[in-house]
Amino acid sequence: MQDILEQLEARRDSARLGGGQRRIDVQHSKGKLTARERIEVLLDEGSFEEFDMFVAHRCVDFGMEKQKYPGDGVVTGWGTINGRMVYLYSQDFTVLGGSLSETHAAKICKIMDMAIKNGAPVIGMNDSGGARIQEGVAALGGYADVFQKNIMASGVVPQISVIMGPCAGGAVYSPAITDFIFMVKDSSYMFVTGPDVVKTVTNEIVTAEELGGARTHTSKSSVADGAFENDMEALFEVRRLVDMLPLNNREKPPVRPYFDSHSRVEHSLDTLIPDNTNAPYDMHELVRKLADEGDFFEIQKDFAKNILTGFIRLEGSTVGIVANQPMVLAGCLDIDSSRKAARFVRFCDAFEIPILTLVDVPGFLPGTTQEYGGVIKHGAKLLFAYGEATVPKVTVITGKAYGGAYDVMASKHLRGDFNYAWPTAEIAVMGARGATEIIHRSDLGDADKIAAHTKDYEDRFANPFVAAERGFIDEVIMPRNTRVRVARAFASLRNKQLSNPWKKHDNIPL
Ligand code: HXC
Repeated sequence: MQDILEQLEARRDSARLGGGQRRIDVQHSKGKLTARERIEVLLDEGSFEEFDMFVAHRCVDFGMEKQKYPGDGVVTGWGTINGRMVYLYSQDFTVLGGSLSETHAAKICKIMDMAIKNGAPVIGMNDSGGARIQEGVAALGGYADVFQKNIMASGVVPQISVIMGPCAGGAVYSPAITDFIFMVKDSSYMFVTGPDVVKTVTNEIVTAEELGGARTHTSKSSVADGAFENDMEALFEVRRLVDMLPLNNREKPPVRPYFDSHSRVEHSLDTLIPDNTNAPYDMHELVRKLADEGDFFEIQKDFAKNILTGFIRLEGSTVGIVANQPMVLAGCLDIDSSRKAARFVRFCDAFEIPILTLVDVPGFLPGTTQEYGGVIKHGAKLLFAYGEATVPKVTVITGKAYGGAYDVMASKHLRGDFNYAWPTAEIAVMGARGATEIIHRSDLGDADKIAAHTKDYEDRFANPFVAAERGFIDEVIMPRNTRVRVARAFASLRNKQLSNPWKKHDNIPL
């Protein structure tokens, strides 16, 4: 009996060594943790339960029958993050470059099936040379099986991808289907075709980092939602994010103890909006002053900075934030910000996370670049996302809410539950100057008349009261009381019931 137990321990030790000490040393020399070290950092201590430690590939081509590693290049299983269950896989670059074989894919699919059945998030730590070249089409089939599982899990359980090494070719499409992608700076990259192929086909000379590194994907392509300095930081941030999310689409997000005052009044917000309403201010300040302990988990902070998206807690409960940022492009909506916010709103709606929208928007950005790029269709994504969302929606207009952008930003007309405005709000079809130049075109040569008309228009519309008179704004609130008012609004919406008509699925303008 003792022998058998020792044999098991020996087999486990061999599996835990992955591709061997030499390759582990190489992994460390690149500043990367191993697959198992990553799991240790991600999960609560001692909570990891492994599946399929002894799975081996079945390939006999190219001498592969002599190259077998128990586990086949991916560590899979489940564990807890602050006591809540998550499923995970962690690709082991020390085993055949973390390449994906048929059996490696089957291990990932198994934990995804378990995650869907048991209602827990899936976290994938990606570090792989892609399809196992020796296996050919069997590996390609394995990838497609993973994609299909990702699609089935979408909207059922949160899926998070952490890119911690290479991720190239079709392999990028599994993370791309998941809800969030985080990358590690300088040691991870994602691209469909690498620098060599790019050079051959387009003559462009580009490094892997420039083509698909963390900075590229968080600031240019928007493929990734966050970039972190190293493996440790990325994994700690994933823990922080998971702590804000529900485990599945049937549960509410966790309510955590909070140490902030429930009735905190922020006098400084009374002067947040500058006297000159065209002068910018930082919307981050408002978000932080509303949030419990000032904590804001920002998503896509380096892309489309004219809109902020992310999560805060209000009285311990998670709230999704969408906020125009007057510091960038005066807070205009454009193609990128509409896409960014629409995807975020849909995530929140899929997972029952209430949405707080903070509005200061002078309209959609004009110009040929926007129109040729399809701002109509992309802007419609955000409009559609807000309009179909059935989660509690609270909106606060702090400054401008002009034109179509007023309608789009979770207005009353899109089933906003509480629509508040600060006294500084200006809700109108457009700014006073622009409006005057259109409706008083015949007076354009007379500066005094135009100034008088502009003043008239401002007096009539540059305020929240016309909208409030119609009930489009439920209440004009003191800026300093925003946290209390918004928290009370969400508290009153905890049992909200709203559903859309039956349909197979909608046809959002993609
Ligand atoms: C089998 C692989 C492999 C792969 C790497 N290895 N990629 N084995 N299949 N795809 C092995 C190497 O032979 C090596 O084995 C070990 O992993 C480490 O690789 P190195 O090249 O030494 O590491 P490094 O210099 O860090 O380079 C990493 C790399 C490079 C950039 C990822 O290995 C690479 O270019 N690999 C091939 C990438 C690729 O073309 N994959 C197919 C993409 S197409 P030893 O024994 O020496 O340690 C694809 C299609 C998916 O994935 C389609 C889905 C629909």
